[in-house]
Amino acid sequence: MSSLKTALITGASSGIGAIYARRLAARGYDLILVARRTDKLTALAAELDQSSGVSVRTLTADLTSDSGIASIEQVLRDENITVLVNNAGMGPFANTATMTDADAIATLTLNVTALMRLTRAALPGMRVRKTGTIVNVGSVMAFFPGPMSALYSATKSFVLTFSRGVAEEAREDGVLVQAVLPAGTVTDFYETAGVSIDNFDRSVFMTAEQLVDAGLVGMDRGELVTLPSVQDETLWARYDEARANLFAGTQSSQPASRYI
Ligand SMILES: NC(=O)c1ccc[n+]([C@@H]2O[C@H](COP(=O)([O-])OP(=O)(O)OC[C@H]3O[C@@H](n4cnc5c(N)ncnc54)[C@H](OP(=O)(O)O)[C@@H]3O)[C@@H](O)[C@H]2O)c1
Repeated sequence: MSSLKTALITGASSGIGAIYARRLAARGYDLILVARRTDKLTALAAELDQSSGVSVRTLTADLTSDSGIASIEQVLRDENITVLVNNAGMGPFANTATMTDADAIATLTLNVTALMRLTRAALPGMRVRKTGTIVNVGSVMAFFPGPMSALYSATKSFVLTFSRGVAEEAREDGVLVQAVLPAGTVTDFYETAGVSIDNFDRSVFMTAEQLVDAGLVGMDRGELVTLPSVQDETLWARYDEARANLFAGTQSSQPASRYI
């Protein structure tokens, strides 16, 4: 059976992306699942095919390679995609000076270049159809530049800033661009990053199911920025107000007196 709405999810082979796949299938979306591990994608597709009855396709692609990104761009341009979830991401737990060049470039390409290119590929069709949603999975590390995650935090700052700007552009076309910013979430992310999850305070971690369910409530609310773990909503409002005030304070033709 096929439905009229299709979601394309990157990084659907595990963790948060796999839960987005399960939840969107339960909401009746046909799915296109993207990642490198074909066996994991195939197993999830078979499970969802049986349990939910939606149509599920898998696309094996390495989103750190130009050809891998281009193959998914083509799908986004050619097909009627209702929801794009840019979820694939990596964050080697490493010092910037000593991490391998390959890890540094892969992190930037996957977290920034692929997300930007797939967003740009999805938008024109959504604008014409006057509907669509792009979910960009960022991180609260966007607010926390620190040791061992300088590059990762910077890529997630890009996700937040880029998503917010594009959201303003796309709003008038009826397209929602939502940045979802997880804090600690129990997935394979940490082991893949080269650090045991046991090194962190697990009492402040949520499950991937809790994270995605909160993200989807945020999507239903039309939120541009969703912070699933933040209880006090005024924290974000005050942060954003301070950001706007800081920007307003930069609008001067003269150097500040302390620099003269
Ligand atoms: N877990 C957390 O605490 C946490 C916190 C904040 C933000 N996040 C963000 O949440 C997102 C999902 O991470 P997760 O926690 O669910 O971790 P995860 O279980 O490690 O999932 C990462 C996903 O990205 C895919 N991926 C990695 N490299 C890829 C590549 N080169 N090409 C295509 N796909 C690739 C992986 O699939 P393959 O290996 O099969 O390719 C996997 O499906 C990431 O953007 C991450 O930054 C996670």
